[in-house]
Amino acid sequence: MTDHLFKSKTFSSVYQKYMVPVSTEVINLIFSYMEEKQKSKPYEAAVDVGCGPGRYTFPLAPYFKKVIGVDISEFQLEEAKQYCTLENVTFQVAAAENLPLEDSSVDLVNAGLAAHWFNVDKFVHEAIRVLKPNGCLAVHAFDPIFKLQDDRNDAALNAIVKQYLDKVSEFEYENVNLMYHQYEEVFNAIPLKEKKWITDIPVVYDMSIEEIIGFFQSIYMYQEFLKHDENEAIGFLMHLKQRFHDILGEGSESALIKLHCKHYCVLACKPSGNWRNNGLEN
Ligand SMILES: C[S@@+](CC[C@H](N)C(=O)[O-])C[C@H]1O[C@@H](n2cnc3c(N)ncnc32)[C@H](O)[C@@H]1O
Repeated sequence: MTDHLFKSKTFSSVYQKYMVPVSTEVINLIFSYMEEKQKSKPYEAAVDVGCGPGRYTFPLAPYFKKVIGVDISEFQLEEAKQYCTLENVTFQVAAAENLPLEDSSVDLVNAGLAAHWFNVDKFVHEAIRVLKPNGCLAVHAFDPIFKLQDDRNDAALNAIVKQYLDKVSEFEYENVNLMYHQYEEVFNAIPLKEKKWITDIPVVYDMSIEEIIGFFQSIYMYQEFLKHDENEAIGFLMHLKQRFHDILGEGSESALIKLHCKHYCVLACKPSGNWRNNGLEN
């Protein structure tokens, strides 16, 4: 299913344009964790797995001598390359479960908004293989259940969100549960002693109606709806847009609504001690 979805140029452009911005809170958490675990700065290398259009790859670049973004979709990487002006960043088509990297070669393996598409056990195994001793793994995303806030219209706006989520949930795939559980399964799949699971990190975005409608389109479940019945999906979105304008009335075009969502992050550190084929122990 991932193959179909992200191997579409149109979806890659919509995703790049409208997906909510990356979380600086999460980026700060990753680097505080790295500082705690790894003293040797500047860091040498990072890999951003399932990097898509590079939304997390680029913010990593100032901290490393080189950053490699890998993704199974050429279309996603085309978007990334189009925006890349950084000399220390490269991109490569590759699967999370088979990374094109040497053993013990990177200081950070990052996967943002992507691990729910992977075979988690195989990815975790690969991540640990390519990490240097004391290297860190950061796997994060946000809860697909979000809320809107606009002081006088909270109830009406969230009724639209509910209508949207109820409809698109018909097009869910099974791994979405990982997101609903804030990646608890990812945390449990990591066979390292040094690991940490941070949940419910609040993030708020100010968004116009156009941006919210764009965000709705950038969610894969809506894209599945589009594939299933294009006319119905487009009509549904137009209907939601009209409801937003009706609720906000005059000035709705320029009104900003707060979109609240919760990010979460799993962090882990590879031990500097013995590596055993059948697991990792200090
Ligand atoms: C929702 S996008 C996230 C992109 C980016 N990391 C971000 O934060 O915006 C998920 C990405 O994971 C990629 N992907 C899915 N399965 C993959 C796999 N097994 N190996 C590598 N990339 C994969 C998809 O092509 C897609 O670009």
